[in-house]
Amino acid sequence: MDTHTHLIHAASRAEEYELKIEGASYEEIARKGGGILNSVRKLRAATSEALKKARSGGVEKFAAYGTTTVEAKSGYGLDIASELKILGLHQELAAEQPLEIVSTFWGRTMVPAEFGERRTERKNNIALLTERLMPEVASQKLAEFCDVFLRSRGVYAGAIETNSRTGKEYGMAPRLHAEQLSRTGAAQLAVELGAASCDHLEQVNKSDIRVLGKSRTVATLLPGCDFHLGLQKYAPARELIDAGAIVSLATDYNPGTSPTLSMPMILSLACTQLRMRPSEAIAAATINAAYGLRRENNIGSLEVGKQADIAVFEVADYREIPYYFGVDHCWMTVKRGRVIHVSKQSPI
Ligand code: NIG
Ligand code: FE
Repeated sequence: MDTHTHLIHAASRAEEYELKIEGASYEEIARKGGGILNSVRKLRAATSEALKKARSGGVEKFAAYGTTTVEAKSGYGLDIASELKILGLHQELAAEQPLEIVSTFWGRTMVPAEFGERRTERKNNIALLTERLMPEVASQKLAEFCDVFLRSRGVYAGAIETNSRTGKEYGMAPRLHAEQLSRTGAAQLAVELGAASCDHLEQVNKSDIRVLGKSRTVATLLPGCDFHLGLQKYAPARELIDAGAIVSLATDYNPGTSPTLSMPMILSLACTQLRMRPSEAIAAATINAAYGLRRENNIGSLEVGKQADIAVFEVADYREIPYYFGVDHCWMTVKRGRVIHVSKQSPI
């Protein structure tokens, strides 16, 4: 299962990858109009058909890596028509191919380029999200969850809370991007809001770990971001597990910080960099992940009464799933009892 992706995007950002290798930071690239705004420009320019064509092969690839359910967030649109275009594609893809697509509306509180950066514009943006987009998304039943990212403590904190609470009123359970590049208090806010999941958590402190340890909010770790951005500080998975947190893993598949859709690679990173045991990593990617999507009664484990979502790996020992990294060793993928992928590769 992959519970955190930005599935619909128009193109890779390989040109920025090279700039990062040469020493530019993720934040510097964003300040110069690259980063997320680069993806927003390309997404707005692309037709629905082109976006679908670009991603439908991607959807099949998820199955090739053993993923049977994919959470997908909007958020590269930043205006009404473009956000609805993304959410509409989630709905179409969910209906047209066998993987389960769980749709999340990500009303970014980041101010779109056309609004500029003044306080009044920021307010207009929040009004656009909560008064115009959310009612529309809810009435067309385009999303099951809502998401936000509290990037910095200051100006956006109130907006984030309003956004999540409004989403909840419209029947979309909150998820939060929390404590990725700096600590902002988002993890504890997620628990207070009763969020289904809070994701990233590289910068959590001891008090956040204690609060998450006592909560039902899933701690979703995304080590692909740290790996791709070359950051040293991975989320404190061991402390979270020891505190009793429900730890899950996902790819964060997106063109800026984690261009991978391989869950086996994420399991390898979880074991090697986060010091999770193979059994913990597998539980994180299956039953804990299902809990974070509020689907624990249907998927996430092989039990009588659940739908048969199965990934079979060509290995001699379950620990070899994370042990072999960057190697395609998923042999067969089954969704709702139906074989949807069989590997043509020879075993390792
Ligand atoms: O919005 N999980 C994070 N997602 C990213 C997407 C990054 C990007 O496109 O650069 C974010 O920060
Ligand atoms: Fe993300």
